[in-house]
Amino acid sequence: MTTVITLRELDGTAAEDVRSVVLACSPGTLRRRFFLPGRPDPADVLGRYRRYLLAGPPDGVALAAIDGRTTVGLLNLVAGEARVAELGIMVADPWQRQGIATGLAGWLRASGRWAGWTVRAVTQVDNAAARALLRRQGFRVRHGPQHGEYEYELTMPGPEVA
Ligand SMILES: CC(C)(COP(=O)(O)OP(=O)(O)OC[C@H]1O[C@@H](n2cnc3c(N)ncnc32)[C@H](O)[C@@H]1OP(=O)(O)O)[C@@H](O)C(=O)NCCC(=O)NCCS
Repeated sequence: MTTVITLRELDGTAAEDVRSVVLACSPGTLRRRFFLPGRPDPADVLGRYRRYLLAGPPDGVALAAIDGRTTVGLLNLVAGEARVAELGIMVADPWQRQGIATGLAGWLRASGRWAGWTVRAVTQVDNAAARALLRRQGFRVRHGPQHGEYEYELTMPGPEVA
């Protein structure tokens, strides 16, 4: 059976979606997403980052990937300085390597909303999955490796015209 994933923009009241994806992630995935040491406690992650994970317009986007009734992936784009935004993505372990992060990132581009913006993302040097994802999306290394991290950057193109 093929998994059908739907994408939905969260509106700041969808705390349950954020909870669902954080609880479905392994400690390793939470560690890589939030640059935390050891085995991060999902409750602690939710306490610390819930507001950031729900950030919505005008200062950002929280985009959920949903399998049936379960939220399995989350993309966050949070605006900082003028026309610069920070990207973070996580996909719960059982759903990884099925193109879900690629779909979330593709939505960002297709929306056209961020065309011309500089989007930055930081990953640890040993995070092969994140680095492959970012390279594939056209990101280039801006800094690093420094302190065990790379910073990637992309000036977001407009939506592709058929
Ligand atoms: C990074 C992450 C979001 C990728 O999600 P995903 O849904 O599995 O990614 P996709 O299936 O769309 O794959 C994207 C690309 O990464 C590659 N990839 C995925 N997992 C990989 C792995 N473990 N090792 C090497 N490459 C990997 C895929 O082959 C694909 O490349 P391709 O298009 O050239 O074939 C997911 O691994 C994750 O949540 N990691 C922990 C959190 C994190 O590191 N976030 C990024 C920092 S903010």
